[in-house]
Amino acid sequence: MWTSKDIPGQSGKIALVTGANSGIGYETALALFQAGAHVIIASRDQCKAAEALKRIEVIGGKGTLETGLLDLASLSSVKAFARSIKDKHGQLDLLINNAGVMTPPASKTADGCELQFGVNFLGHFALTAHLYPLLKQAPAARVVTLSSGAHKLVQQIDFENLRSEKSYDANREYAISKLAVLQFALELQRRLTQAGANIISAASHPGVTQTDLSRHMSEKDYNAAMEHFKELMPAWQGALPTLFAATSSGLIGGSYYGPDGENELHGYPAVAQISEAAQSEQDASSLWDFAENVIGTKFPID
Ligand SMILES: NC(=O)c1ccc[n+]([C@@H]2O[C@H](COP(=O)([O-])OP(=O)(O)OC[C@H]3O[C@@H](n4cnc5c(N)ncnc54)[C@H](OP(=O)(O)O)[C@@H]3O)[C@@H](O)[C@H]2O)c1
Repeated sequence: MWTSKDIPGQSGKIALVTGANSGIGYETALALFQAGAHVIIASRDQCKAAEALKRIEVIGGKGTLETGLLDLASLSSVKAFARSIKDKHGQLDLLINNAGVMTPPASKTADGCELQFGVNFLGHFALTAHLYPLLKQAPAARVVTLSSGAHKLVQQIDFENLRSEKSYDANREYAISKLAVLQFALELQRRLTQAGANIISAASHPGVTQTDLSRHMSEKDYNAAMEHFKELMPAWQGALPTLFAATSSGLIGGSYYGPDGENELHGYPAVAQISEAAQSEQDASSLWDFAENVIGTKFPID
């Protein structure tokens, strides 16, 4: 059973965690800090970021901390944030694409995309692209992207509905965003391998974990989900598959981790199941082209 006690020393490493002010992102940031990393707490709210930093400092650890303002629902915010990180740092060892939103009322990003697709996938695609030059400067960088068991609920991304042109179904759009991030993580690894880059892309999911992610669910839907899931893991445990993917030795690029219990809902890090749709290289390549088009720049892999 792998736990945060197994995290190798992270001193000298720079880690950036999106959505690090709460839930799984907070626990990921805390564990990396305690292992000695310099952790950048990226949050869309400066006050929440400062509070998270204070909470982590009070708990204590070997690392160092800074905060940064990142709204993944705005491509210009993503670009400005990445610029500020590049101005301050010469390398980035760990990029944890953790932030996420689930089943909000129909809404769009500043750039007109459906919110869940825009924040969970597109914002992270843009962030990874902008920070790629820094990742390249690290001796062995890793990018860990958070998907979900929900990625298995859909088989395809409808490119004609990513701006909710036809309809909006909150659960379907969440599943699509999580299929997209998993396709992205796998496609990124394929392209890194092709480029001979010394960077690993992996993915993770936290099973079912008690966090604020359910904030948009109705009481009825929440209770129905709880009947099905029985119990939720604490956030520190939900962070373990991500921490395993980010820090364990001998990790193979393009791998996906989740809890080892029944249906990957609870437990400790183990290899998780990837749906056939997520493995489609053709779909991932179309998604990549779509994303480059929307962000208006090529992902700078050589
Ligand atoms: N909890 C689970 O059971 C579960 C299951 C499967 C997958 N996941 C995935 O795990 C990841 C972490 O979620 P969580 O469970 O820890 O939920 P959470 O506590 O709600 O944390 C989500 C984080 O994302 C941030 N965020 C939301 N919209 C953002 C935006 N536009 N720009 C920047 N940051 C934004 C939130 O910021 P605010 O605090 O300002 O809202 C928060 O810090 C997500 O990707 C989620 O899809 C969770």
